[in-house]
Amino acid sequence: MAKKNSFQIAIDGPVAAGKGTVSRLVADKLGFLYVDTGAMYRVTALIGIRNQIDLSNQDQLAPLVKKATIHMRNPNSQEKDGRLTTVLLDNEDVSWVIRTEDVSQGASKVAVHPQVRSVLVEKQQQIALEQDVVMEGRDITYRVLPQADLKIYLTANDVVRAKRRHHDLLTKGVDIEFDEVYKDLLERDHRDQSRSVDPLQIVEDAWVIDTSDISIQQVVALIVSKVELMSTVG
Ligand code: DC
Repeated sequence: MAKKNSFQIAIDGPVAAGKGTVSRLVADKLGFLYVDTGAMYRVTALIGIRNQIDLSNQDQLAPLVKKATIHMRNPNSQEKDGRLTTVLLDNEDVSWVIRTEDVSQGASKVAVHPQVRSVLVEKQQQIALEQDVVMEGRDITYRVLPQADLKIYLTANDVVRAKRRHHDLLTKGVDIEFDEVYKDLLERDHRDQSRSVDPLQIVEDAWVIDTSDISIQQVVALIVSKVELMSTVG
């Protein structure tokens, strides 16, 4: 890996721990780029679906993803439509297309492939090399940015996470029972934690923040003050 010339905040954690919202707000407060790496696994699934490739076929998928230009940036003034990040695939805005159910399911299928992971990890490391980032995902603290200046594992108990996810879905007009959301969340946790390649894990030097009983604003304030302290000291 090339020598870094940036301040890196790496955030991992399970589904619905608040990683996206926290990372976006921390990045805004510090003037850093927010990088949602899950979006890149989603883009990979989209590429596969559009090219009618079987998502279990990493030999076909990985070269196409390697060739693709995936650009992530903070939303501009015309893009304030609730998105946390703008994602461009070969210059096409796919920020919302990648949030559909088909693509979400596909993303967890393509995320198990070592060849796909290696292509995406390299792209993610490249992004974080020259600019200050808040990068979130499942393998950032130990695989993508093992030299990160600050490593955080953001979590919350599973009922709280399922309640948050349920509330989000109802707000978006999706009519779904809590029990279904809860079951789906436990399944996704299991898949993320039992994957043979780079499963979700807590590294020794991670700062574990449990968001069950504190607000998003409090979490953001905690992280920002820690970074400010690090900048003063370091
Ligand atoms: O966070 P998300 O739901 O957008 O992530 C989409 C999928 O990609 C999900 O199945 C977890 C996976 N993922 C991963 O394996 N590694 C990452 N760094 C980010 C996401």
